[in-house]
Amino acid sequence: MHAKLQRRIQRYGWDKAATVYEDGWRDSLKDAQECLLEMAQPREGEAVLDMACGTGLVTFPLAEAVGPSGRVVATDLSDRMIDIIRTETTKRGYTQVDAFRADAESQDNLSDSQFDLVTCALGLMYVPDPMNAMREALRLLRPGGRAVFAVWGARKSCGWAEIFPIVDSRVESDVCPLFFRLGTGDTLASEMSETGFGSIQEHTVVTQLPYEDDEAALNAAFVGGPVALAYDRFDESTRVSAHEDYLASIAQYRTRDGYRIPGTFVVCSGIKT
Ligand SMILES: C[S@@+](CC[C@H](N)C(=O)[O-])C[C@H]1O[C@@H](n2cnc3c(N)ncnc32)[C@H](O)[C@@H]1O
Repeated sequence: MHAKLQRRIQRYGWDKAATVYEDGWRDSLKDAQECLLEMAQPREGEAVLDMACGTGLVTFPLAEAVGPSGRVVATDLSDRMIDIIRTETTKRGYTQVDAFRADAESQDNLSDSQFDLVTCALGLMYVPDPMNAMREALRLLRPGGRAVFAVWGARKSCGWAEIFPIVDSRVESDVCPLFFRLGTGDTLASEMSETGFGSIQEHTVVTQLPYEDDEAALNAAFVGGPVALAYDRFDESTRVSAHEDYLASIAQYRTRDGYRIPGTFVVCSGIKT
């Protein structure tokens, strides 16, 4: 898929997903985000860049950790995500957070070597060329600075993965090509190494995505995530048939307490030498 089209689908798709995102995904992403924060070890007074920040599920713990003497710059492709993070920043009274719209691949308005830490939680899978975003992280880090990236793991270990072919078969182009590529094998670690990061460490997080019923599972998958733009354009009968197919694909993970869908994440850290 053409990179420009992929960015458009992501930008306007996440605009549509923004208000539903946290309810749909907060519990499912928690283990991966906690692993990233543990590996990142943000410290008081540090300058941090959180790329593809979304609604701030990682940005705000980072802001707590660096405190008012530190700084967190939060960037995302979606205007609506940035609106949410700005509103929440004001509500929480954080002076150390600055959020604005930027593509992870080209954060031209940020000058070189100014951050101690760059994070990107569950964002790189959506970027047309993730190594460009890694190069940006390297450019923006001071020597000795750290980067930590989290991505979804391999397709076979993510029980919700059928959402992509189900939506793709009802639209003209793939909504999220190569989504599982970075989390398969050692791809994330080896691309970080190829970009120039040293001392790379890798963790795998194996978890479950909990949804209390069909409606919660459908909302997260179709409305609050990466296929939101395509779904928004479906007519009613297309929606109904896509719902049926998705529920059939996750039926094996239904328990007496709702769904427990397997999910795996890969989290890697590296140092700018
Ligand atoms: C699954 S959300 C993750 C948000 C947040 N980091 C978290 O952990 O909750 C993915 C985010 O990536 C953003 N995104 C997608 N493509 C991007 C790009 N090329 N540059 C920057 N952000 C992008 C989306 O707008 C969305 O907010």
